[in-house]
Order: sequence, then structure tokens, then C-alpha cells
Amino acid sequence: MSARAIGAVACAAALSLGAHAVAADEVKNQQGNAVFQKWCAPCHASGPGHPGTIALAALYKGAKPAALEERKDLAPEVVKKFVRTGVSVMPFFRKTEVSDVELDALAAYLSRKQH
Ligand code: HEC
Repeated sequence: MSARAIGAVACAAALSLGAHAVAADEVKNQQGNAVFQKWCAPCHASGPGHPGTIALAALYKGAKPAALEERKDLAPEVVKKFVRTGVSVMPFFRKTEVSDVELDALAAYLSRKQH
């Protein structure tokens, strides 16, 4: 095989690996979104009438978005800590409610803008 052919094969392999990584991220994002809609959106969706969004609007006074899905500063570890311990009127979530795998996807989803 010529050097050029080897390069082309390596390049195609790298591209397909990259595509797999993107697809896996996308699946995880969708799982995280589903967990968020089920357990978090009632309190943390944007718009009026959501206690979490109201509380965070009062806490940050516009310095950060009140809706969690719009935040760009949430690290996965921070999300996991709040979900497992709760804060104020926010309950903690048991592993029978949000499993570790679901929490991992949820944390990735909420920190996806943190780059
Ligand atoms: C019963 C309503 C409720 C539910 C359900 C809820 N939260 Fe909360 N959450 C709150 C409130 C209220 C606060 C603000 C507490 C405070 O005053 O600091 C909060 C705070 C947070 C914070 C801290 C943000 C910050 O900057 O201080 C994170 C992260 C968070 N919630 C994530 C979640 C996730 C993820 C879920 C879903 C698994 C969830 N919450 C479900 C009410 C809720």
C-alpha cells in the first residue's frame, strides 16, 4: 500500500471514529434531556410558575440565566451533587428515581454549553 493510501485509510478511520463519538454524545444528550423533562422541568423549566427557576432568578438577579438549560457554567459534578443532596425546597433524588447512568446523562446534558 502506498503511503498516500495508508494516509487515506487512517484518515477515514479517524473520521468514522469522530462520527461515532458525536453520535454517542447526541444519544447521551437526548437521554439527559428526557431525564430533565421528567424530573427537573416541573421546577426548572423557563417561563413563569416554576419554583426552581423563580428561586434561581432571585438568587442570581440576572447574573446567570434562571433556567438551568440556559446555563453555561454548570459542571457535571455540580449538577450531580445538587441532585443527590437537594437544596432548600429541592428534594434529593434517590438512585431508584434517577439512576447513576441517568444522572450521568443529565449532568452531561446540563453542562453541554460549558465550553
Ligand atoms: C420541587 C422543585 C424542584 C425540583 C423537582 C428540582 N429542583 Fe433543582 N432547585 C429547586 C430550587 C427551589 C432551587 C434553588 C434553591 C436555592 O434557593 O438555592 C434549586 C436549585 C438547583 C440547582 C443549583 C443551581 C445554583 O446555581 O445554585 C441545581 C444544579 C438544580 N437545582 C438541579 C436540579 C435538577 C438537575 C433537577 C432534576 C433532577 C432538579 N433540580 C429538580 C427546585 C427543584
